[in-house]
Amino acid sequence: MAVYEYHAGLEGVPATQSSISFVDGQKGLLEYRGIAIEHLASKSTFLETAYLLIWGELPNRQELQDFQQEIQGHRRLKYRVRDMMKCFPESGHPMDALQACAAALGLFYSRREISDPAYVHEAVVRLLAKVPTMVAAFQLMRNGNDPVQPRDDLSYAANFLYMLNEREPDPFLANIFDVCLTLHAEHTINASTFSAMVTASTLTDPYAVIASAVGTLAGPLHGGAAEEVVGMLETIGTVENVRPFVENCVANKKKIMGFGHRVYKVKDPRATILQNLAEQLFDRLGQDRYYDIAVELEKVVSEKMSYKGIYPNVDFYSGLVYRKLGIPTDLYTPVFAISRTAGWLAHWKEQLGENRIFRPTQIYTGLHGIDYVPMDDR
Ligand code: CMC
Repeated sequence: MAVYEYHAGLEGVPATQSSISFVDGQKGLLEYRGIAIEHLASKSTFLETAYLLIWGELPNRQELQDFQQEIQGHRRLKYRVRDMMKCFPESGHPMDALQACAAALGLFYSRREISDPAYVHEAVVRLLAKVPTMVAAFQLMRNGNDPVQPRDDLSYAANFLYMLNEREPDPFLANIFDVCLTLHAEHTINASTFSAMVTASTLTDPYAVIASAVGTLAGPLHGGAAEEVVGMLETIGTVENVRPFVENCVANKKKIMGFGHRVYKVKDPRATILQNLAEQLFDRLGQDRYYDIAVELEKVVSEKMSYKGIYPNVDFYSGLVYRKLGIPTDLYTPVFAISRTAGWLAHWKEQLGENRIFRPTQIYTGLHGIDYVPMDDR
C-alpha cells in the first residue's frame, strides 16, 4: 500500500501550476503576472489589473476601452434577481446574500458551454459586472430602499460607491477604493481560490465556481478577518489597553485578527500600502482614534511575536480604510469578494485550460472489519 505524508492544511503541498501571481513570503513580495503589486497599486486601475490577471497581459488602450464598455453593459440585475433578494432576511450576512445571488446567476444564465471561449468571456464580464451591483443592492434593500441603477459614466470603483451611497463619490475617495480593489484582486492559491479551482475542476458553471469561493472567503480565518479587526480595535478601546490585550492573547494562545499568514513571514506588502492609504484618508478627512490603536497593536505584536513571523496581513488596515470610506463593517468581506472575483475568474480560466478533476487522497484513521450491531443490542 502506498505511504503518504500528511501535511495539515496542505501546508507546502503544491496543488497546481499557475502563472497568475507569485508571493515570496520571506521578502514580502507579491506580483500579478510578474508585475509588482506596488506598481499596479500606483499606476494601474482595478479593471486594467483584472484584465491582466484574466487574460495574462496588460490591455492596450482599445482593449481596455472595449472591456470597460462590456462591463458597463452587464452591470444591471434582472428584476427577478432583485425580487429574489427582497425575500432575503435583512438580518442575514451580506456574504450569504452574495453567495446566494452568485449561485442564482447560474439559473438565469444556464448555458454550460465552458469549452466555448465566447461563453467564458461572457461569464467573466457578467460576473465582474454584476457582483458589485448585487452587493450594493442588498445593502440598500435590507435598509428598505430600492437599489440604485449603475451609472455608465462612472469608473468601476466610483460606480460601486455611487450605488452604495446613492451619491457620486469624491474622485479622491473613488481612487483610494480602486487601489483597495487592485490590492485584493489575487493572491495565489489561498483557501477561496482553491475552493474555486476544486469546483471549477468538475466543469460546473462559473456561477457555482464563484459562489463556492464566496462561501469560503466568508470565514474569519480568511476574508472575514477585516470585519473582526474593527471589532477588536473597538474592544481594545484605547492605546493604553493595547499591551495588556496582546499579553492576554499570548498567554491564552488567542489569535489576534489581522495578523499572521501561511506564506508571509514579514509584513504583508498590501498591509504597507493600505496603511499608507489610511494615512492619506486621515489627512484628508480627519484622524480616526482607532488608527493609533492599530499602530500600537502592530508595534506590540511585532515585539512579542515577530520570532514566529507574525506581522500584519492584508486584513489589518483594510477595515480602517473602508470605515473612513463609509462602507458598513459587514460589507468589508463582500467588498473583498468584488475584487477577488477577478482572481477567482483568472484561476477558473487557467484551470479549464489544463483541467484534471481534483481528487486528493486521505490517510484513513478509522477501524476495519467491525461487526454491525443490531439496534436492540446497542
Ligand atoms: N495571533 C496570534 N498568534 C498567531 C496568529 C495570530 N493572528 N497567527 C498565527 N499565530 C501563531 C499560532 O498560534 C501558531 O503558534 P504555535 O506554533 O505556537 O502553535 C503559529 O503562529 C502558526 O499559526 P497557524 O494558525 O498554525 O498558521 P496557519 O498558517 O495555519 O494560519 C492564519 C494562517 C492566517 C489562518 C493565521 O495566522 C490566523 O488565524 N490569523 C488570524 C486571522 C486572520 O487575520 N486571517 C486573515 C489572513 S490573510 C488574508 C486572507 O486570507 O483573507
